[in-house]
Amino acid sequence: PNIVILASGNGSNFETIVKATKNGILNANILMLITNKKCFAEERAKCLNIPITRLGKNWSKDLYDLLKKLNPDLVVLAGFMKILPPNIVNSFKIINIHPSLLPAFPGKDAIKQAYDYGVKVTGITIHYVDEGVDTGPIIFQKALEIDGLTLDEIETNIHKLEHEYYPKVIQKILNS
Ligand code: GRF
Repeated sequence: PNIVILASGNGSNFETIVKATKNGILNANILMLITNKKCFAEERAKCLNIPITRLGKNWSKDLYDLLKKLNPDLVVLAGFMKILPPNIVNSFKIINIHPSLLPAFPGKDAIKQAYDYGVKVTGITIHYVDEGVDTGPIIFQKALEIDGLTLDEIETNIHKLEHEYYPKVIQKILNS
């Protein structure tokens, strides 16, 4: 199966997914990294020999055309900071990972939102993407107890969970 990954930032999830295809955790072919701006994910893609497309001003039309051309089995969002328009959401199977237990703390800075609120448990959510912001049907969640942890520690632990589970959940989706 073929996967396209969309990212705008650090790209640690992108890299983990690519590595999972090389060590037997994920049986898939990563066709391309698509970004919407210069970001560290692109540097990782260069090192990993994954083709990169950076979208420009007409990003949503170009993204639609590119995905139509690539025709992936799954589109994986990994820190892609744009809201996808309905024609894209309705044409492809798309998943996202979010660093909170949705529906709590959608949108930006979810880890800090949870920390500032003072919740004792947060976590990660992997969900299908619909037209909303972090609102699609939930596929997987993992909780994390954060009582007494610093924001830094919480961020580290959240990212560990993301890296552990995103490749496995992608494999499950491809199997189903
Ligand atoms: C992750 O925390 C993910 O949950 C959120 O964006 C972040 C991306 O991190 N959607 P990275 O770029 O993969 O390191």
